[in-house]
Amino acid sequence: MATATNGYSARQIGLHWIVFLLVAYQWFTGDFMADLFGAAHGGPPAAVNSGWATVHVVVGVAVLALMVWRLGLRHSVGAPPPAKQHPALQWLASAVHVGLYLDLTVGAVAGLAAYYLWPSLAGLHHFLMRPVLLLLVVLHVVGALWHRFVVRDDVVTRMVRPAR
Ligand code: HEM
Ligand code: HEM
Repeated sequence: MATATNGYSARQIGLHWIVFLLVAYQWFTGDFMADLFGAAHGGPPAAVNSGWATVHVVVGVAVLALMVWRLGLRHSVGAPPPAKQHPALQWLASAVHVGLYLDLTVGAVAGLAAYYLWPSLAGLHHFLMRPVLLLLVVLHVVGALWHRFVVRDDVVTRMVRPAR
């Protein structure tokens, strides 16, 4: 899929951590959006200002755009080879990365479609943005902690220090 390099570029690292912050924001404020969306579709009135829905849409579209940009960078500048470990763990780490790309892009598109076109797609958005995202992020962070504190290799460093 991508050219092998010896690490991530400063731009790839910056995008990783910006997306991390934006997704954390969406995660912790998603309930506002769910309340406002419910109120707009016959549910009880929401206790929050409707302007928060716009913020959720703008941040969500930014995540979608940045994930597409990251995929483009993977193709143009490449990514480092998988960390040296048991093939099953290598496969799991790659599957989680692919899962995060898919989850955030398909999930954001489902959110847009639910908001503007087909409200029934809110169920898919909820499923992808809550349980599936939580599972993927937990596996990903446990993997990072494992590399940092058990294996003690350079895997976390390569998402902090640019190689070029
Ligand atoms: C990829 C970034 C996004 C993340 C991480 C995210 C996260 C969330 C979360 C956690 C909720 C609360 C879900 C619940 O418990 O019901 C939510 C609700 C919602 N989001 Fe997003 N969202 C994102 C992008 C978007 C976009 C681009 C839209 C477009 C309009 C959108 C529309 C909605 C709608 C309509 C709801 C209420 C429906 C529901 O309950 O799921 N989201 N979002
Ligand atoms: C404390 C939280 C996090 C840590 C410590 C962390 C750490 C890392 C590290 C070290 C890598 C590089 C792995 C490698 O080179 O083999 C990586 C890649 C990646 N991370 Fe995270 N991450 C965190 C949170 C997140 C979150 C919340 C997301 C998604 C919203 C995410 C999405 C990704 C993706 C998609 C890649 C693959 C990049 C690529 O090769 O194209 N990370 N992360």
